[in-house]
Amino acid sequence: MPKIKLKNVISTDQFSRQDLDILFKLTDDIIANPAKYARSLDGKIVATLFYEPSTRTRLSFESAACRLGASVISTENAREVSSAVKGETLTDTIRVVNGYADAIVIRHPEVDSARVAASVSTRPILNAGAGSGEHPTQALLDMYTIRQRKGDFNGLKVAISGDLLKGRTVHSLVKLLSLYDNVTIYGLSHKLLKLPQSYVDFMKKHGTEYISCSEFTDLPADLDVIYHTRTQLERLEAGAEKIKEYIIDEKVMSRFSSETYLLHPLPRIKEITPEVDDDPRAIYFEQAHNGVKIRMALLVQVLQ
Ligand code: NCD
Repeated sequence: MPKIKLKNVISTDQFSRQDLDILFKLTDDIIANPAKYARSLDGKIVATLFYEPSTRTRLSFESAACRLGASVISTENAREVSSAVKGETLTDTIRVVNGYADAIVIRHPEVDSARVAASVSTRPILNAGAGSGEHPTQALLDMYTIRQRKGDFNGLKVAISGDLLKGRTVHSLVKLLSLYDNVTIYGLSHKLLKLPQSYVDFMKKHGTEYISCSEFTDLPADLDVIYHTRTQLERLEAGAEKIKEYIIDEKVMSRFSSETYLLHPLPRIKEITPEVDDDPRAIYFEQAHNGVKIRMALLVQVLQ
């Protein structure tokens, strides 16, 4: 299997098209031949350092490590229970954990946290969500899920919707989509939750068309993907709960084609109504399961 030159996973702008090809083929092989990989990381230790809440990302990273034969050490609520409470800096914590583990998966409220961690770490750092910045491993599993349905990324029409301002998963996703040709991205959000200009500029630089929208009716019926997100209330100022939510229900889904797939990084709060779960185009639970496989592939890449 070819390897990607990958020490850390900090941002999706590290990845080329060729890297994604390698990573996704490795993921396909892991899914097809799980036994072949069951001892790949025998004797390795993966540390998960989570300073913010998580269900999927932490558990799927830990599941991925276990399925490869690695052991896991973990602090799930590091903001309250680690030495951060005593005032230890992130860089000191990372230097210490370098002696305990072979790779460090970190989620932290600061946008720059993973980069700062990598600057002092002798072990690979995997960014599992950095404040309202990026969440690269989520975007990689999102792309993998899109590839399973669409086969190719060139020419895709994708809507990103909900909280484009603070939602880190969309930030990482638009960078990956921009690697491909003739991609059109529609950004549907309240005017206070628009995509930050730096990501709009990134897309422009890569020749990706970006169209800002304010209503579901602004979106074309033949979209390939709708990537919906929740409002990141914990990252917004007081009063943000009054911001209009874009709620996807059966009626909204009926506007789109039979091949318009609905993704969501989860957790879903009320922005997708439960009746939509039975729609064959709603693939967010399948998407969440792909997290284990993609993270297995990433761990193999950084640790083997
Ligand atoms: C996302 C996150 O943490 O950014 N969750 C996840 O990792 N799947 C999305 C969110 O919390 O809204």
